[in-house]
Amino acid sequence: MKKFVLVFLLVAFVFHSYCQQAKGKIETSIIPLPTSLIVNNGSFKLSPALTVIVPKKDEIKKIADQFIKQVIAATGYKITMKEGTGTVANSISFLLSTDNNIPDEGYRLKVNSTGVTLTAKNPAGIFYGVQTLLQLLPPDIQRKFPADHKEWNIPAVTIEDYPRFGWRGLMLDVSRHFFTVAEVKEYIDQMAKYKFNLLHLHLTDDQGWRLEIKSLPKLTEVGAWRVERTGTFGRLSKPEPGEKATYGGFYTHEDIKELVKYAADRFVNILPEVDVPGHSLAALASYPELSCTPGEYYVSPGDQFMIWPGGGQHFYGTLDNTICPAIEKNYEFLDKVFTEVAQLFPFGYIHMGGDETARNFWEKSEPIKALMKKENLKDLDEVQSYFVKRVEKIINSKGKKMIGWDEILDGGLAPNAAVMSWRGMKGGIEAAKLGHEVVMSPTDFAYIDYMQGDASIEPPVYASLRLKKTYQFEPLPEGVDAKLIKGGQANLWTEQVYNTRHMQYMTWPRAFAIAEALWSPKEKRNWSDFAKRVEHHFGRLETANVKYSPAIYDPIVSVSKKDTATILVKLDTEIEGLSIHYSFDNSFPDNFYPAYKEQLTVPRDATTMKLITYRNNKPIGRMMVLTLAELKKRAGIK
Ligand code: ACM
Repeated sequence: MKKFVLVFLLVAFVFHSYCQQAKGKIETSIIPLPTSLIVNNGSFKLSPALTVIVPKKDEIKKIADQFIKQVIAATGYKITMKEGTGTVANSISFLLSTDNNIPDEGYRLKVNSTGVTLTAKNPAGIFYGVQTLLQLLPPDIQRKFPADHKEWNIPAVTIEDYPRFGWRGLMLDVSRHFFTVAEVKEYIDQMAKYKFNLLHLHLTDDQGWRLEIKSLPKLTEVGAWRVERTGTFGRLSKPEPGEKATYGGFYTHEDIKELVKYAADRFVNILPEVDVPGHSLAALASYPELSCTPGEYYVSPGDQFMIWPGGGQHFYGTLDNTICPAIEKNYEFLDKVFTEVAQLFPFGYIHMGGDETARNFWEKSEPIKALMKKENLKDLDEVQSYFVKRVEKIINSKGKKMIGWDEILDGGLAPNAAVMSWRGMKGGIEAAKLGHEVVMSPTDFAYIDYMQGDASIEPPVYASLRLKKTYQFEPLPEGVDAKLIKGGQANLWTEQVYNTRHMQYMTWPRAFAIAEALWSPKEKRNWSDFAKRVEHHFGRLETANVKYSPAIYDPIVSVSKKDTATILVKLDTEIEGLSIHYSFDNSFPDNFYPAYKEQLTVPRDATTMKLITYRNNKPIGRMMVLTLAELKKRAGIK
């Protein structure tokens, strides 16, 4: 009998702990996943007169102030900050420790029913601990006005956390479309919540020069403005003769100082990019003498002037959009530009672009031929390399390191350059093997300008990248020195991003996957666990009025053909637990329509296939409509 009671008690105990654990797991949903997370029983309830204990250090007080302001806004509580050292009961205590076992940017967070202790070695660690703490609170904590919550509980946890990589970036292209200081600040707010620490601003391109250079005023008087067009990039019409350039904008020095400070207060560095020698129409429109090809230039509104023939052939321009490497005065121009860039941005690196330089005008250029002869350059890769090496000297002379897109490897890498690998990982691997620093941002995992779902419901872009694939991003390739792989970043090119709502839609949730790849331990990566957390964070984004893509709920469509008249369709879903319902009869399916089980044959004479996903008898995906013409195209039927 005693034995029976003992077994019963043991079973009851195990069951109880299991329930507690399961309950705890439901309550925490942190992105990026912490290095170590233990969910304990119970929670800490915020009191309406909470104190936050902080050490006597301004940087920590600033972080505490941001935290307190947010909690006051959402709760309406009266929260105060007090100086102190050590953990104080019924409070939230921030501690600075000298313990070298806590890595840089790392923190320890202990929550139990009597209080919260957040310990770190440096302010960045405290900042990241605060982001985790906020994610442990209900989504309403992000509200700007008090929410109707009876209680604000933080689940009891023990967390030890630190990042896997030191470079955790997002790139924002502010040239193709201009985003104001306020809009960039909002983007910084969003990224900082997910522990990104680097914002790469692509400041110049064919469609606009966005940075005031006081010694070269025409760059923004002329180069920041273009004629206004709306539609599909690459198919927009050229400026009409005499048409006013009304679309654009640029950042003044004061704007940049404000942005840099705002970012620094959120532990985000800003990497400035001035993209040369290609992608330079805006600079040429301002100063045509920078070109090897005399002529009149305009800031492109998104018309087609670059041709991509495919099939391994090099692209070429119908306009020369490059700064000429053979004009000596151009290096004085670049010196002036990088002098001001270096003064404005405190970050240790400057990005010089270097990507996608068309060669067809250089091939015919007499100054280029003369340069090749004088400098003994055997081909145009070496011409580009000559240019990049001179730019590196300029950037290094300002006390900065140079980074460039992986084309800077072509023709020989500049001696101290870091490489941002975008055409896959191979450029990064090659650079690391040569002993250079590398940031990984390969198109196949990290290009968040690509469509994230089926082309029938996404704004058109020439390639796709689903969340699940993004989540497979592994920045550290085998066989290279891990110290040289500084980290990675996702790139948001904005040719097709006209406003901040769409900028958010393209960023989230894929930036969650990038954040986790760059912060969390590799061995903890688990797609279905991540997908659940993503869904929780959809709710948080909604509360914060941030748009996201719901593409994970839509079917994945694979089309093939049996013969020239028979189209076959396979369907799948990115996440588990969805049913896909379909119609071929032009009506809109719901969950009473057939559920997909196996490969479908498109019925003879059908003109559309319509699809929608359901979960628990509720529609969750968007209605997708594929026309017969589209199905035929995908099947390869003429
Ligand atoms: C790039 O996407 N051209 C770097």
